[in-house]
Amino acid sequence: MPGIMCWSNARLDGKTVIVTGANKGIGFETAKDLAVRGAKIILACRDLTRAQKAADDIKEETKNENVIVHQLNLASLASVRSFAQKINETEEQLNILINNAGVMMPPKSQTGDGFELQFGVNYLGHFLLTNLLLDLLKKSAPSRVVSVSAYAHHAGILNWGDLQWEKREYDPLESFGDSKIALIYFTRTLAKKMEGTGVTTYCLHPGIIKTDQYQHIATSLGPWRSVFINIVASWFGKTLVHGAQTTIHCAVTEGLEDKTGQYFTDCWPREPGYRTKDENVARMLWQVSERLVGLSQRVPSERSSVGAAQGEAPAP
Ligand SMILES: NC(=O)c1ccc[n+]([C@@H]2O[C@H](COP(=O)([O-])OP(=O)(O)OC[C@H]3O[C@@H](n4cnc5c(N)ncnc54)[C@H](OP(=O)(O)O)[C@@H]3O)[C@@H](O)[C@H]2O)c1
Repeated sequence: MPGIMCWSNARLDGKTVIVTGANKGIGFETAKDLAVRGAKIILACRDLTRAQKAADDIKEETKNENVIVHQLNLASLASVRSFAQKINETEEQLNILINNAGVMMPPKSQTGDGFELQFGVNYLGHFLLTNLLLDLLKKSAPSRVVSVSAYAHHAGILNWGDLQWEKREYDPLESFGDSKIALIYFTRTLAKKMEGTGVTTYCLHPGIIKTDQYQHIATSLGPWRSVFINIVASWFGKTLVHGAQTTIHCAVTEGLEDKTGQYFTDCWPREPGYRTKDENVARMLWQVSERLVGLSQRVPSERSSVGAAQGEAPAP
């Protein structure tokens, strides 16, 4: 629904917010709105020049001077660790973490750590980032983690035998769906793990918004489907302002605590797809993710460990 707005007037004076991928698109609009509400905004972006330009634009438009940039490349676990370390060392508090950055249907490619790019950037990078910032989030409670998933999670399967698309022909849409299903499972599991801590978490579909996410559609889906999708996105899609509203709603609206773990669309909780419901998969995905990013004791030291970790999970 193109016109849905977040109607909360909540102020964020004295609060600190991180938005990943905030130099453009939905992340930029989200950061701008939260800056208007008085928060300190940290733009977590891979390109510092683009990030600084975005920060300057936000400062000028909102008159909030408390907007800073830090480098974060979600395609590199080392970069995620370095970013988190900087935040943990320099920030007294973190009240809202918005896992917004993403790539959609690029040609087959890998992160620096050898993960399929969409799964690595959209999901694993944010999984590691959130986990490394959890102590600060707990210390700052009440605090929130908001992850931008997508309706396209319906296309995901989470094929445990080949999560990194090494054994099958790469399907960019299914792979995008995998990364977004994983964010839905992540949100539900995190909500359970955070019970009683004051940290709550939400995920969402922002709507269809014609942004640079669509740059790979033609190569990935072919010219006809690309034309169709671009027409739908341009004619029936949301504006950037409207596309940011569900993220903003999940980040600021008062009284959402009992909705922790849920999936939102148009500022309202909805049921996500049937493939997101398996508690066994939720548990295994968390364990496999911990191993892939090196958070559990059994750190995968070689690429082969990735496949080994996946092999242990049940078929969803
Ligand atoms: N637009 C839609 O219709 C739609 C629909 C459903 C879900 N979503 C989701 O909404 C989120 C925001 O998308 P958008 O439409 O605003 O897209 P966008 O305009 O393309 O913005 C994506 C942002 O992610 C950043 N990013 C990409 N790879 C990164 C990496 N390795 N490390 C750090 N940042 C990285 C980009 O940085 P650079 O500028 O450096 O590339 C950019 O800031 C994404 O998660 C997307 O999947 C969008």
